[in-house]
This record gives sequence, structure tokens and C-alpha cells, in this order.
Amino acid sequence: MERYSYGMVGLGVMGRNLLYNIADNGFSIAGFDLDQEKVKELEEGAASGMKVRGTDTLEDFVSALEVPRKIILMVPAGKPVDAVLGNITPLLTEGDIVIDAGNSYFEDTNRRVADLASKKLHFMGMGVSGGEKGARTGPSIMPGGDPEAFKLLQPMLEAIAAKVDNEACTAYMGKGSAGNYVKMVHNGIEYAIMQLISEAYDLLKRGAGLNNDQLYQVFKEWNSGEMNSFLIEITRDIFTQKDTFTDNYLVDQILDKAGAKGTGKWTSEQAMEIGVSIPTIDIAVTSRILSAYKEERVQASEIYSEKEITKPEDTEQFIKEVGDALFLSTLISYAQGLSLLVKASEEYGFEIPLKDVVKIWRGGCIIRSVLLEKFYSAYTQDPNLSNILLDKEISELVKSKIKALRKTAGYAVANGISSLGIQTALGYFDAYTTKSLPVNLIQAQRDYFGAHTYQRIDREGVFHTSWQSSNN
Ligand code: 6PG
Repeated sequence: MERYSYGMVGLGVMGRNLLYNIADNGFSIAGFDLDQEKVKELEEGAASGMKVRGTDTLEDFVSALEVPRKIILMVPAGKPVDAVLGNITPLLTEGDIVIDAGNSYFEDTNRRVADLASKKLHFMGMGVSGGEKGARTGPSIMPGGDPEAFKLLQPMLEAIAAKVDNEACTAYMGKGSAGNYVKMVHNGIEYAIMQLISEAYDLLKRGAGLNNDQLYQVFKEWNSGEMNSFLIEITRDIFTQKDTFTDNYLVDQILDKAGAKGTGKWTSEQAMEIGVSIPTIDIAVTSRILSAYKEERVQASEIYSEKEITKPEDTEQFIKEVGDALFLSTLISYAQGLSLLVKASEEYGFEIPLKDVVKIWRGGCIIRSVLLEKFYSAYTQDPNLSNILLDKEISELVKSKIKALRKTAGYAVANGISSLGIQTALGYFDAYTTKSLPVNLIQAQRDYFGAHTYQRIDREGVFHTSWQSSNN
């Protein structure tokens, strides 16, 4: 009986596309899904020459694979992963590898790694970014876990991943659940950038009064220079899409309530948990939450009436400043996310290679952008950089845009155009680059009402004062 090198459980669009990508690259692969329709579609949709087989039962699937088995799961995160593991692990043999390619929570991966290890099986968490198209043609792949197990997968992963300068957008992300963690932070940054783009859109639309054709032109120009990125590119194209029900552009017919599946929230929770400041990501999560309060927002807008917006004097100049503000606040969002990875790597012993993270984010994934080239060269010079803002070349870039960020933020505030992402990126920058923050006063207050103690600037030790109350 012919044996297959890889197995895929979960033949939804992502699973099927990733499977075809693997087969396209000359690897044989068997697929399984509880939905037999999907199994049928798999074989029907396979191109000639692909070594692909759909299997009817989990038993057939497992016995069709070469040992050690290398089984990729592409099923929704959470209970479905545990359900598959519950059914499949009794059929596996020592040394087999199960790779979870979904957006699983890293703590779930830790639990599953331990559980499968007790059965002498390997379990790996592997982030995959790039959406349906990326899965088919070349995603960015973030595997973590047992290094020996990773080595067995490496040639296949390098073959199927996106390429930038002939280098594959995949690399070992570290121990344990590092692969899921890196993907989670990728998504947190994705939330922040999407929030910032939406604010730039709002400023251009409501501030400068640009229509969709003009917005298309602006985003087209932005995408052809230093802001070239996947998210700017798709935004450009969104402005050209006509609606099928009306004569309007589709973007104007879409209800302003943003959805979320949870990876952004996890990133924020994690940052709070291990003490990392990532306010632009936090605000992006909470802005989506606020957007869902549509009915209340409508009510409040009536109470407080429409705000009057003063058009910028020089539209060309304004567009340029908004572009620079978007560029810099995006850079600051990456800085926040990457600083979370630095801390998490220490905290959880992941040993995440930051240089490789930014290298493999250059292509295939949702947050790919030319800016990552600069980060890559920064981490190449100093792999232990604790914050990307401390790099010399990056700092020059930041200095060249900071005025535009301040002007844009100021315009938004003065005109009542909500710009939470832009404001927090700037606020983070200002706090991070301030030698003496006013939290000496917070420490005094804490010690005043709760004897929480404080440290001094002129001598070692911990101090408490009996503060004089004016009521005494
Ligand atoms: C990717 C995306 C992908 C997915 C997000 C969307 O990297 O390919 O991040 O993972 O599109 O989960 O997340 P929300 O539904 O939470 O916006």
C-alpha cells in the first residue's frame, strides 16, 4: 500500500489550500475530514500529478501515513482540536508528530504538548498567516516546539512558505508554544495596523473630504513607496469595489460594527499578564468592542450633535502628514508587539529569535510590509534589541515623521474625529522616550493612603513616610 508523507485533518478552505500547496511542492499527502463531502471535493479538485488521497475514516487516514507520522491539524481552535486529538492519539505510535496549524491559544498548546509527550508523541503549535490565498500560494509559517520534530518538517515548510529574496518565510520560532505565541502577537499587530488605517481613512474622508476614487489614488501612492504593505494594498483595492445591490461603492454599504475572533484580545491580556505596554494594540481591540455599540453611538451622537469639522487648509500637505502619521504609528505598533515577544521569550523560556520573526513576516502574512526589512537589519545588528525604537536607523526614521504624527493627532483632536490608535501610538512614544515620568507622584499617593512604600532617586532601599494630612 502506498504511504503518504503528510496528513491533513480538517479540509475546510484553509486546510484544503494548505494541502494542495504541500502537494504542489511534490510531497504526498492524505486528507481527512468528518464531512465526507469535503473529502470527495479534495480528490476532485486535485491537479494531475499531485499525490493526494482523501480518506473515509480516521483509521484509514492514520494507516495511510509513513512513520513517524506527520499530521497537520487545520481545525477551529479550542474544543475541535481536543476532539481530534482524543480520537486520533490512540491510533498513533511513538514518535509521531501532530502539528496544530490553527490559531490556538498558547496555554492550550502547552497542555497538549504535555499530554502527548506522556504518550511519547510530539505536539507542535504552528502559526500560519496569509488567509486562504496565502495558504494556497505561500503563507508565512511560524512553527514552534520540539526542535528535532521541527527538523523533520523543515524541508516541506520551506518549500510551501512564501519567499522573499529567495528566502523562505518560515523559521523555528522557539520552544514549547512559541509558534502560537508569535502568531498571536502577529494578529495583535494586525489589529493595531487595521485600526490605524481605518483612522487615516476617516481623517481623509471626513477631514479632507476625499471620495473613494481619491482615496484609491492616495492608497495607491502610499503603497508604491515606503508604506508598501499587504494591508495598504488591499485597502487601496477596497475603494474600487462596487456594490451589487446598489450603485454605491461596497465599502459605504458595510455596517460599522467590527467583528473579532479573539487573538487580539489574547494579545492584550497577555501583555497585561506579563507586564508589557502595548496600548495601540489594546485600543485596537477595545475600539472594535466600542464599534459594536452602534445603537448607543447613534443615540449619543444625537445628544451631542454632529461635530463641526474644519477642512485642512492644504489638502496635499494634509494627505502627506496623515501618511507619515500612519507610517509612524504603524511602526510604533510593531515596536509594541515585538517588545511583548522579547518579554514573553524570557518569561516562558521560549527563546524566540526576533531576527527570524521579522524575517519571516516580510512575506506571506497579513502584516507583511517593506518596513520589516528595516527591522530585519536592526535585529541582524543587535539580536537582543529590547525595543525597535532604540535602533539608530529606526530612530532617524521616527524623528523624520514625528512632527507629522503630532500634527495629525492634533487635527483629529481639534475636530472631534476619533483617532484612538494614532493618539495611543503617540502617547506611547512620548512616555517611552521621557526620562522622568510623573509617576513619582503616583508612588507618593500610594504610600500616602496605603503605605505601599517607594524608592528614592538618591539612595538605595525602600521607604515609607507618615504623610502630613492637612486635616491634622
Ligand atoms: C492571518 C489572519 C487570520 C485571521 C484572523 C482574523 O494571519 O491569516 O490573522 O489568522 O484572518 O484570525 O482575526 P479576527 O477575526 O479576530 O479579526
